[in-house]
Amino acid sequence: MRTSMMNKLKVPYRGLGSELGEQELIAVKEAMSQDDLCSGIYVEKFEQAFCEYTGAKYAIACSNCTTALELGTSAFGLKAGDEVITTPLTFIATSIPLLKRDVKVVFADIDPRTFNIDPAEIEKHITERTRAIYVVHYAGLAVDMDPILELAKKYNLKVLEDAAHASGTEYKNKKIGNIGDITCFSFQSLKNMTTLGDGGMITTNDKQLEEKIRLLKTFNIKKLPDRTTKYGHRDKEFPFYWDVVSADGEVGLNYRMSEVESAVGLVQLEKLDKLNARRIEIAQKLNEAFIGNPALTIPYCPDGCKHVYHLYTLLLDEEIIGSKDKFMQILDKEYDIDVWTQYCPNYLYTIYRQRGYDPGLCPIAEEIFLKHLVNLPIYPTLTDQQVEYMTEAVLETVDRLTKE
Ligand SMILES: Cc1ncc(COP(=O)(O)O)c(C=O)c1O
Repeated sequence: MRTSMMNKLKVPYRGLGSELGEQELIAVKEAMSQDDLCSGIYVEKFEQAFCEYTGAKYAIACSNCTTALELGTSAFGLKAGDEVITTPLTFIATSIPLLKRDVKVVFADIDPRTFNIDPAEIEKHITERTRAIYVVHYAGLAVDMDPILELAKKYNLKVLEDAAHASGTEYKNKKIGNIGDITCFSFQSLKNMTTLGDGGMITTNDKQLEEKIRLLKTFNIKKLPDRTTKYGHRDKEFPFYWDVVSADGEVGLNYRMSEVESAVGLVQLEKLDKLNARRIEIAQKLNEAFIGNPALTIPYCPDGCKHVYHLYTLLLDEEIIGSKDKFMQILDKEYDIDVWTQYCPNYLYTIYRQRGYDPGLCPIAEEIFLKHLVNLPIYPTLTDQQVEYMTEAVLETVDRLTKE
């Protein structure tokens, strides 16, 4: 049925990417009823459950993914003048900790099929100052990690994965969170699971990194295991039951996640596969409707990878439909469907331009962002009716623009 014959619906780009219900309310009440709402049993359980889910040895809950990225960068000990290679097609948070410490951000172009950093582009940018590669599993599709791990080994580089979009994503049948040196997850409201609006998790298999991150997450405080009470330490060399120490010269802050957030995280993690299954089901419906249309390219997913569709990425052929902007405008104004394009290649932002970055650095990312890529609304609470309405609206708009 064409949308002209359907009732007009609204399809917002909803700010809640998950579903919250009775179980989360119960979890909040239970966690709230404790005497201490900070650093207790729920944080511990959430971290443990995250290890079990991802297969990582260590998981450290923190306040959000940006602070996870900051902690990772600090744990790597990156300093002014070091270089890190990353993707331009990401949220600015990926490179904020690098900008803060004047680490040089080097952008490598993306693979036009996956929209992820192209491993073949990375090697061209490696210099003697390169210390790390920061990848982003954009939209919920895994980066091709094997060649990146090989490069890291060859050049002795650290690998950090920004998995803000990738809770539940799999690479070669393995969960993200258990591959690079450090992986950073986001549980912000839009994400596939949430800890009540903001939250993050770091995973690693490296004990030394874990210990350092735990220090940096809480004021560089080190509990002294031989001192169980706050009394009677006058005989010891150090008179208190915890010390404040250096983490290889790095100083942290307070980046904790609360007990209530962690309790909700535990419930959400249990639901994650189901929430992702609904996203995948929606993406399949959209794919079936769009495949074969010469003006449209549906998202790509290699064998062995599990794409969790944090974003639904559709490529438009501007040679056929004339203008991506017009397409977005028609869907918004005439059909009430909120279409976005994420993200602007980061070096085009003023903060980078002021540091001497010019347009043209990553031509594939720029062309895709400016001319082809749109993100259709996708979240588990989208109804089948909304999905059907959206597919028809997209096809009608493409038809109309093709004829113009
Ligand atoms: C790719 C990417 N990295 C990092 C972040 C930052 O996450 P948070 O909001 O949890 O700090 C986001 C959030 O939108 C993101 O999309």
